[in-house]
Amino acid sequence: MPLIRLDKYITDTGACSRSRARDRIRSGAVLVDGAAVTDPAAKIDPETVSVRLDGALLNAEEHIYVMLHKPAGLLTASRDRHRATVLDAMPEEWKRRGLFPVGRLDKDTTGLLLLTDDGVFAHRVISPKSGVTKSYLAGVDGVPGPEDVRAFASGIELKDGTKCLPARLEILGGGRVRVEISEGKYHQIKRMLASRGLPVLSLHRESIGALKLDPSLAPGEYRLLTAAETETIAPGILSK
Ligand code: URA
Repeated sequence: MPLIRLDKYITDTGACSRSRARDRIRSGAVLVDGAAVTDPAAKIDPETVSVRLDGALLNAEEHIYVMLHKPAGLLTASRDRHRATVLDAMPEEWKRRGLFPVGRLDKDTTGLLLLTDDGVFAHRVISPKSGVTKSYLAGVDGVPGPEDVRAFASGIELKDGTKCLPARLEILGGGRVRVEISEGKYHQIKRMLASRGLPVLSLHRESIGALKLDPSLAPGEYRLLTAAETETIAPGILSK
């Protein structure tokens, strides 16, 4: 196979944009056959070397784990006949691997969305039994108070009678709250806050477990999770 520039190879695998690939290479985050290569123009033969970005092996037959900064307006679905989905924001190489979203965010919700081709990983992140918390920032119409915090802590009952697990409500001021939940019922945050007379005006997911949305990702941008990040949210997953 002809030699190819390292930054171009990384971009071709779909791992990230060319400019991000250059930044990560220069900062020593890219290993070729185990050794850091810091020149984005270095030539490699992808057939004969292994390339790791932030610990993740590129283009290997392993599963892939992706962090997307979901913008408003994209549907969390693998495909839709009429509307743009989060899969439309992904490179073709990854779509061909059967990438799918882990859980769902509403069309108007922004923030951290994971995608993978690993069903075991998805189950571990979504299942309430795993106890992986999801943290959201919401703008609400109304003034939340300590009684709302207590109601969340003891488990909100939705208007249709559905009982939610205990959750954390933090009042941030200026009509903003942080909510942490460890399950994922349909429109859960909006329905929990609505049940307290606090309609949601905006919603953004900032973290899943200990994994925070990378602040360097603009809405619509994505990157592979590092091996350490993948293990943080689903311990043991890479050695299964
Ligand atoms: N809860 C909601 O109401 N909407 C989301 O997108 C995520 C959680």
